[in-house]
Amino acid sequence: MEAAVETTHEIYFNDVAKAILHQKLGGQRYSKIFVLVDENTKTHCLPLFQNLCSHPIEGIISIKPGETYKTIATCSKVWDQLSEMGGDRKSLLINLGGGVVTDLGGFVAATFKRGIDFINIPTTLLAMVDASVGGKTGVDLGVLKNQIGVIQQPKMVLVFPEFLKTLEERQIKSGFAEMLKHGLIMDDTYWNHLRSEAFSHYDQELIKTSIKIKGGIVAKDPTEQNIRKKLNFGHTLGHAIESYCLESTERDTLLHGEAIAIGMVLESYLSHKLTGLSKIELEEIKREFKKYFTPVSFSKVEIETIIALMKHDKKNQHGNINFTLLASIGNAVINIRVPHELLVESFLYYMDG
Ligand SMILES: NC(=O)c1ccc[n+]([C@@H]2O[C@H](COP(=O)([O-])OP(=O)(O)OC[C@H]3O[C@@H](n4cnc5c(N)ncnc54)[C@H](O)[C@@H]3O)[C@@H](O)[C@H]2O)c1
Ligand SMILES: [Zn+2]
Repeated sequence: MEAAVETTHEIYFNDVAKAILHQKLGGQRYSKIFVLVDENTKTHCLPLFQNLCSHPIEGIISIKPGETYKTIATCSKVWDQLSEMGGDRKSLLINLGGGVVTDLGGFVAATFKRGIDFINIPTTLLAMVDASVGGKTGVDLGVLKNQIGVIQQPKMVLVFPEFLKTLEERQIKSGFAEMLKHGLIMDDTYWNHLRSEAFSHYDQELIKTSIKIKGGIVAKDPTEQNIRKKLNFGHTLGHAIESYCLESTERDTLLHGEAIAIGMVLESYLSHKLTGLSKIELEEIKREFKKYFTPVSFSKVEIETIIALMKHDKKNQHGNINFTLLASIGNAVINIRVPHELLVESFLYYMDG
């Protein structure tokens, strides 16, 4: 059967995905099948999954929802349960959930008994267009994001946009930020299409386009030696903002997409200063993100703290901070060094107007 999207692993949509769950799981014979959910996907997504899947399930493993549980402590509990339920090297783990479940479940599977197969069934828009695709797995270390992990490709990814029906609007927008990113880094036509359409979260074609962009990049560079870095646009500062808000007692936590939406405006400013993004395009990007995401303001002290946090980011090589920036909309450039004062200026630009 031909995969819907060419990448390092197979990705199937709707009816084809249903057929796979119904008849054969990639032609493999698994000794036992386990399903990992969080408390929310257990309520909202597991019943539909159980209708779709005709294979016997050995055990359902449930974790607490949210980024704060994306930790080694949670992995330990999942490893324990797999072990208690007799998981062996021929077991399969199906990750049914958002990016937290697919990141953590992928890591658990990649390390349990030195590695068992896993399948991702993403249930958030963010996980469909981004987290479940590409094989990056892992957990956070304190407030620092994704510090522990491995690159391990899922056996396949099965996409059912139907799961999005129970997802909150705020979560949908968070995933939409990653879709906008795909347009910004690779495809100006897609960017224009996304911003001209009345946004509908069930639009399978848009989801497919985003997966194609991400999957296509990952297929060319699975281990992030070069062009995969394009996907980091907005994430160098965005991750630091996300970590800062997670840590701060005075701030509400930002969702991943909300933080990188800010990161993309900041890094567009840097792109205007350093890599040729025009003023008109910069303004267009800022306007677009402000349409979907409520602006956040940062004090001078906070800006410095965020910049300091960024220096711990895993993408920094030899102590240098390498950014992915834009030469124009649809055209990203990698490995750009940025002077400190421009970083501060970028926050001022974001907060101005
Ligand atoms: N591996 C990668 O390449 C990659 C890429 C991007 C993001 N990520 C990671 O993904 C994570 C964010 O993913 P996310 O936004 O999906 O977060 P998430 O997994 O926390 O899901 C968001 C919330 O929605 C709930 N939920 C999930 N599906 C639902 C549904 N269908 N109906 C109702 N509720 C539902 C979850 O329980 C959770 O409370 C972050 O940890 C980020 O680092 C990884
Ligand atoms: Zn992201």
